[in-house]
Amino acid sequence: MKYHIVTYGCQMNVHESEKIAGILEKLGYTPCDKREEADIIVFNTCAIREGAEDRVLGNVGNLKRLKKQNKDLIIVVCGCMTQKEKTARVLMQKFPFVDIVIGTFNLSKLADYIEAVKKGRQLVLMEEGEIDELEPYKRTSGDNAWVNIMQGCNNFCTYCIVPYVRGREKSRKEENILNEIRGIIAENKYKKITLLGQNVNSYGKDLVPQVSFSKLLEDICALDGDFTLTFMTSHPKDLTSDVIDQIAKQDKIEKSIHLPAQSGNNRILKLMNRRYTREKYLAIIDEIRQKIPNCRITSDFIVGFPTETEEEFEDTCSLVKQVKFDSIFAFMYSKRDGTVASRMDGQISEEEKNRRVNILLKIEKELQKEKK
Ligand code: 5AD
Ligand code: SF4
Repeated sequence: MKYHIVTYGCQMNVHESEKIAGILEKLGYTPCDKREEADIIVFNTCAIREGAEDRVLGNVGNLKRLKKQNKDLIIVVCGCMTQKEKTARVLMQKFPFVDIVIGTFNLSKLADYIEAVKKGRQLVLMEEGEIDELEPYKRTSGDNAWVNIMQGCNNFCTYCIVPYVRGREKSRKEENILNEIRGIIAENKYKKITLLGQNVNSYGKDLVPQVSFSKLLEDICALDGDFTLTFMTSHPKDLTSDVIDQIAKQDKIEKSIHLPAQSGNNRILKLMNRRYTREKYLAIIDEIRQKIPNCRITSDFIVGFPTETEEEFEDTCSLVKQVKFDSIFAFMYSKRDGTVASRMDGQISEEEKNRRVNILLKIEKELQKEKK
């Protein structure tokens, strides 16, 4: 029995596919590279932008052919897209040959569901619930081991679907994280450990007693072992000086930080509900540069947020030039159903968004050249 997993989206999904692989291998499946040879195909989806969703829909559609050839083939669609009720319904209606649609909270039920499908059922599950401690993982990212420290997001940036599909912030217990890392060190196969969360800086605020992210970093670094540590993603409003101090102080922590700014204009930042200003962002960058002189700093930007004017877009360009990021990701704003920004007047045309993103990418290229 063979499985094939297709992963879309962010590192969190890459890691969740490792969990899925762990579940499937426990059931006796082995991995295969070609979907034509698989007995079970899993699509782990992303909902962050429309383009990601369209790609998934097209590719799931193509599986019909394989199902015709092999009626015992089991097709599973999971991940962020399936946690949206409307999309889950569309998936089932449009693609009746899909066997299991399972939301982001329900991975632990996957094994039971596969058994049920073998008895001839088609299943949809998207209940919001607790995040399970799922092990073992089948780690697939070379010498890097991903460690999830929290799930969900409480920020509700007005463009973002994540809080709707991943729910509220839930931190894993510090002891469980430390135990997982002790296991990784003992395996002696991994050089790097990457902590994952949508908003790692607010780690532990929901735990009793509370644990801060900087304390977690300190405790991980105190573990015996030869590894480097890094983390993503940070939110500028929550990145505190004690975290910057830990990065500066701990030899094990990589001198690198991904700090999405999203825009360089205060009116747009406010409309995005980012809860910091351009000035505050620049002050954090100054603090990082002062305490960690050679720190690599990268960022994400969205262009063409509803009502963004040319001048406001230029503020984003000037921020990128001013900070001289080591690298940036620039995205065209994508309207996501259910978010506050999707209901805003003043949506920008695709052509204009395209023009702006190309300008920003050109600036990024010039910066890269200068740095060489
Ligand atoms: N449109 C475009 N980009 C988005 N991002 C999140 N939501 C959207 C959206 N609706 C970007 C942000 C975030 C990155 C992971 O994806 O820049 O930091
Ligand atoms: Fe989305 Fe904002 Fe949460 Fe990041 S912090 S996941 S952009 S809502």
